[in-house]
Amino acid sequence: MRKKKIAILGGGNLGGAIAEGLIKSQFVSPDQITVTRRNVDAINHLKALGVTVTTENDTAIQNSDVIIVSLKPYNVKEVLEGVKKHFDPSRHILISVVTGVFLKDLAGIVDSRMPIFRAMPNTAIAIQESVTCLCQSGATGEQINYVTELFDQLGITIPIDEKLMDAATVLGACGIAYALRFIRAATQGGIEIGFDARTANLILAQTVKGAAELLLKLNRHPEEQIDKVTTPKGCTIVGLNELEHQGFSSSLIKGIGASYDKIVK
Ligand SMILES: NC(=O)c1ccc[n+]([C@@H]2O[C@H](COP(=O)([O-])OP(=O)(O)OC[C@H]3O[C@@H](n4cnc5c(N)ncnc54)[C@H](OP(=O)(O)O)[C@@H]3O)[C@@H](O)[C@H]2O)c1
Repeated sequence: MRKKKIAILGGGNLGGAIAEGLIKSQFVSPDQITVTRRNVDAINHLKALGVTVTTENDTAIQNSDVIIVSLKPYNVKEVLEGVKKHFDPSRHILISVVTGVFLKDLAGIVDSRMPIFRAMPNTAIAIQESVTCLCQSGATGEQINYVTELFDQLGITIPIDEKLMDAATVLGACGIAYALRFIRAATQGGIEIGFDARTANLILAQTVKGAAELLLKLNRHPEEQIDKVTTPKGCTIVGLNELEHQGFSSSLIKGIGASYDKIVK
């Protein structure tokens, strides 16, 4: 399975990052990857790595076993309609990272016997630190293992029901922006208490990374870790309680709800 050739249709931000991550991880060699887009000059850096870059989606599909669709949602139907005759259900695996396009929509365009995956990564895929939520229809156990292994090269992979894909988009993809806004806001606080912006930003980025690693590596509940740093009558608990009086947790929960409503309504 590891020797499969991969075509990425739509070599933009995400498609390009997937190609680079797969090469860096040595999951595939560059000559096993084809990336398409209309303006191929924009992916000359991939060509320099040894990736085949082309405008020809049909040739890319014919020369590959795994097809990753990384187009904008409004391009998917038109592009896939144009190339669907080249899909072979006995050979190809189709993976879509496109937001809001359902497995049934994809099956309705290409051959419905195709194994089809929907993946929801986030922009940390560029540094192989994504969380990618994954669902599928019509795939064998071997194909599921292969696609999971592929996205495991780019961070961690979590299998979910398709009905949770919108929620995964909010927590995982929008979640990057929420976390960055936390860092940005805390940096502003850090400047107020004496640090220059650059140093405050560095302290906070590493602090957030450390907090996340405490959960990921020790598999603990956040509150257990918080209890360790809240000395009775100390400065941490005073600050935390003031954050809550000002609606910190509530505003985050409401923000997640607002993002979700925007997707589903
Ligand atoms: N960025 C994220 O964090 C993220 C996370 C999860 C999911 N997604 C989803 O991933 C998809 C891609 O997002 P993105 O941020 O990478 O968008 P993007 O940078 O705009 O990439 C889409 C690419 O498709 C290419 N394209 C358009 N028509 C084409 C055609 N006929 N044949 C081949 N390529 C074509 C475009 O290049 P040309 O104009 O040169 O053709 C463009 O580079 C979106 O559906 C998005 O919802 C993104």
